[in-house]
Amino acid sequence: MMAERLDGKALAKSIRARLAERIEREGLRPGLLLIRVGEDPASVVYVGGKEKASKQVGIASRVEVMPESTSESALLARIAEANEDPSVHGILVQLPVPKQIDPDRIAEAIAPHKDVDGLHPINQGFLTLGAPRLVSCTPLGVLALLHRYEVPLSGRHVVVLGRSQIVGRPLSVLLGLKAPWADATVTVCHSRSKGWESLTREADVVIAAMGRPEAVTGQHIRPGAAVVDVGIHRIPRDHGKDALVGDVHAESVEPVAGFLSPVPGGVGPLTIALLLTNTVYSALASAGKAGTSGPVEFALEMADVTSR
Ligand code: GUN
Repeated sequence: MMAERLDGKALAKSIRARLAERIEREGLRPGLLLIRVGEDPASVVYVGGKEKASKQVGIASRVEVMPESTSESALLARIAEANEDPSVHGILVQLPVPKQIDPDRIAEAIAPHKDVDGLHPINQGFLTLGAPRLVSCTPLGVLALLHRYEVPLSGRHVVVLGRSQIVGRPLSVLLGLKAPWADATVTVCHSRSKGWESLTREADVVIAAMGRPEAVTGQHIRPGAAVVDVGIHRIPRDHGKDALVGDVHAESVEPVAGFLSPVPGGVGPLTIALLLTNTVYSALASAGKAGTSGPVEFALEMADVTSR
């Protein structure tokens, strides 16, 4: 049996449709400011994708490109202005930023209720306290994908490979929260972990987010486990062509795992879709229309999973 495909592309499409319908129904005009500093080629592509997807659902998104030589204080001044602008509900500064800019200072400068990247220490603090507000988009995307395919998490052993600020750490906290959509037993492995292979072999769910091409193979996975691949790498292949691969060696994992997210078409499209749910949530909250649900519940509602 081959693993069932965790189709992030299809889920992202259905999330976008639900968001568009909600925006229309509520008569919202959510605003998203996307700031790119410099011309990092991957960032040009990512920010373009975020702008296009937001426009599709009816979010008024705006990309501002600042030159590579921008000073930290100039960027901070622009953020301060956007914090005060009532037409802007979400602010995202694409990473990486040039070396003269400290990304932590940028994260701290964005108003927490507009921090659709979930990187402000206040948002990370609320997450750790077990009362999440805005959460980073990739961890939310992984959660939405697992719920959409009804992969059980409560009481199950999840191994997260990677402890990055933007994926591994928030995701490991999120999945371990006391909540009907989480309640997992979480192990975090990182570059200094000894014997991570024996831990993944016992896991019900493996999240590969360590940033190493095709590092997780079929030998590392328990038969039937769910495997989510967060990595994306462009590597040279035969005939001078490049291939996109993840942190998972799909060919050897597919015959072993119960579920596997593909690269591309897995987590990637969801990162963008969940940026949109965060932005729409911020707009709803600022209009007093968010009700009692928080941004995580709103995201799961848009992924059509809370009603199951
Ligand atoms: N660069 C790569 N991923 C991300 C992300 O999720 N947010 C931001 N701001 N920059 C990134």
